[in-house]
Amino acid sequence: MEQIHQSILKWYENNGRKALPWRTLHEKFKIHASKEHLDKLKNIHPAYGVYISEIMLQQTQVKSVLQNYYFQFLNQFDSLVKLANASEDEVLKVWQGLGYYTRARNLHKSAKICVKEFNSMLPSNVQDLQKLPGIGAYSAGAIACFGFLQNEAFVDANIKRVLSRFYKLENASLKLLFQKAKEFLNHSNSFEHNQALLDIGALVCLPKNAKCQICPLFEFCGAKFDYEKYTIKKKIAYENLDLSLYVVLKNNQFILQKSKQKLYFNMYNFLELKNHKNAIYIGKFKHSYTKYKITAKVFFVQDDSFEIKDEELFTYEQLSNLALSKLALKTLEIYKKYIHAL
Ligand code: ADE
Repeated sequence: MEQIHQSILKWYENNGRKALPWRTLHEKFKIHASKEHLDKLKNIHPAYGVYISEIMLQQTQVKSVLQNYYFQFLNQFDSLVKLANASEDEVLKVWQGLGYYTRARNLHKSAKICVKEFNSMLPSNVQDLQKLPGIGAYSAGAIACFGFLQNEAFVDANIKRVLSRFYKLENASLKLLFQKAKEFLNHSNSFEHNQALLDIGALVCLPKNAKCQICPLFEFCGAKFDYEKYTIKKKIAYENLDLSLYVVLKNNQFILQKSKQKLYFNMYNFLELKNHKNAIYIGKFKHSYTKYKITAKVFFVQDDSFEIKDEELFTYEQLSNLALSKLALKTLEIYKKYIHAL
């Protein structure tokens, strides 16, 4: 096992994504950070910075998190206290476009709990971490390890694939994989060991066309000749969804409703109506969200006497300060194009 650990760490030293900003928050890893990133992150507590990254990375690609969200979020909310004192709308606004908005609401709730119950700090053990909304076994392990430098093992989709192949496990339970991850853990450098496993999963041990020739585990891996057998297939059952969205202007204000459905729960949306006799069709767009492949038709109508349950009115200016889902933003784009063409 020692040889395996050495091989992993050597690979990480030469090929790992050591400069990812959430990996450079501890003093001893700052050498990997760019000057620009160091500046932006100088007052960020490592565990807090790791926590935000782990929640963002749960369902979003590294590239998107880096480009549009991580620094922006930390710039606005540089501590748990700042986050706890913000309004939910402010938190959602920074999250705009990232999707799975429950994550943002849970971050906000967790920050409040930490301020009240944990002395404004994140708890450093996995049991307490898991009590916070939005933190499951994986995130708790990752925050304890990457944020508090604890020797914790955890399993995400990438690590799952690496370990399933390494140990030749077909359809292994999460419990078994977690046990294997614990056996596999390098207690003398769990931080880099676990980051390396994430990188091996993301860069080498790919679901298809795995790059076994360059894998530091090649010599030791049980699945090097038939790795596809151990690829866990994603079972996403996509559903087509047709929506008719209405941009309704009432006394020069836009009518929006907070969604009561699971889809975009509690986010502001344009109205979903069956029809309106004076509405005109102004365009359509496609959008993917969670399991839905949405085709949305957009209609426009001015109707000063329109009334609908739970309606809220916004001026155009207010609309741009509101946290809107991509669905609502795309709807608004269609409206803008229509108006400009007039
Ligand atoms: N995905 C989840 N955690 C990550 C990390 N620390 N680095 C890169 N991708 C990740």
